Amino acid sequence: MSTVKENEDQIVVSDVDADGDGVAGLPAPVVHPESSEAGEHVGAATVLQATDVSVHYGDFLAVRDVNMAVPEKSITAMIGPSGCGKSTMLRTFNRMNDLIPSARVSGTVAYHGVDLYDGRIDPVEVRRRIGMVFQKPNPFPKSIFDNVAYGPRIAGTRKKSELNDIVEQSLIKAAIWDEVKDRLKTSATGMSGGQQQRLCIARAIASSPDVLLMDEPCSALDPIATGRIEELMQELKDEYTIVIVTHNMQQAARVSDGTAFFNAEVDPVSSQRTGELVEYSSTVKIFSNPDDERTENYITGRFG
Ligand SMILES: Nc1ncnc2c1ncn2[C@@H]1O[C@H](COP(=O)(O)OP(=O)(O)O)[C@@H](O)[C@H]1O
Ligand SMILES: [Mg+2]
Repeated sequence: MSTVKENEDQIVVSDVDADGDGVAGLPAPVVHPESSEAGEHVGAATVLQATDVSVHYGDFLAVRDVNMAVPEKSITAMIGPSGCGKSTMLRTFNRMNDLIPSARVSGTVAYHGVDLYDGRIDPVEVRRRIGMVFQKPNPFPKSIFDNVAYGPRIAGTRKKSELNDIVEQSLIKAAIWDEVKDRLKTSATGMSGGQQQRLCIARAIASSPDVLLMDEPCSALDPIATGRIEELMQELKDEYTIVIVTHNMQQAARVSDGTAFFNAEVDPVSSQRTGELVEYSSTVKIFSNPDDERTENYITGRFG
């Protein structure tokens, strides 16, 4: 996926509010009465709703016809074998596929009921509200403080005391404040992998998001650092809606409330290997009594 540099450029280049009113047209998060499709959260508001979402890279159909609702303040896991379109699908939730020139998204993705792909929506604002944490921790080559202050500064926060507060609160929420409070001015690149990943979570939190998307956030970390991130996710879900891609089924079973199982099969006509959402339900159901035989085969380790 995109590198630090690309992300940075993208934020800078497109940080232009066309009509100058500072508003990108996204609604404030509000509570909606509708229920989700992930059984456990009946009654929870839907934050993200994908309807008939397909993504092409050029002529290649990577993932097809996904229908999936993400309930608020919960952890939704996306699992499935490599190449089935999990990352592709995750990126549709905050328009990160916009950064891949060949990618084309069809269908709709609604965020609190608003079409994220509407021409009037500012993708930079989308990525502020819906933050992303990547597989490989990608702190900017700046100080710890400047990493966390990056988003707020771009958004126009200049006052030192305000920035200090945001940085401290974000680092506290990301469970890393105690480890770094005495070295905020040192480079972020000198931290351990687990610390860097929590810093990246703090950096996302500093922009006051509503949703955190995490693409295999622990796959570059050791078991202890992984455990800390998993604990942190449980704390964060009181305040944020989390969607995590993981190829680690035990992790999905441990941390998530709802699980979406993706799979890819070769289409006999096109010969393309296209991903689809096979089954989406509460995590308990997916791992104990799934409806689809393919889910059963995957979770019991018969393929993947
Ligand atoms: N930037 C890209 N350009 C072309 N094809 C891509 C790109 N990213 C992913 N793909 C292809 O799309 C399919 C789904 O990939 P991906 O979403 O990364 O799957 P997963 O995250 O489940 O491993 C794969 O066949 C992959 O090779
Ligand atoms: Mg992936």
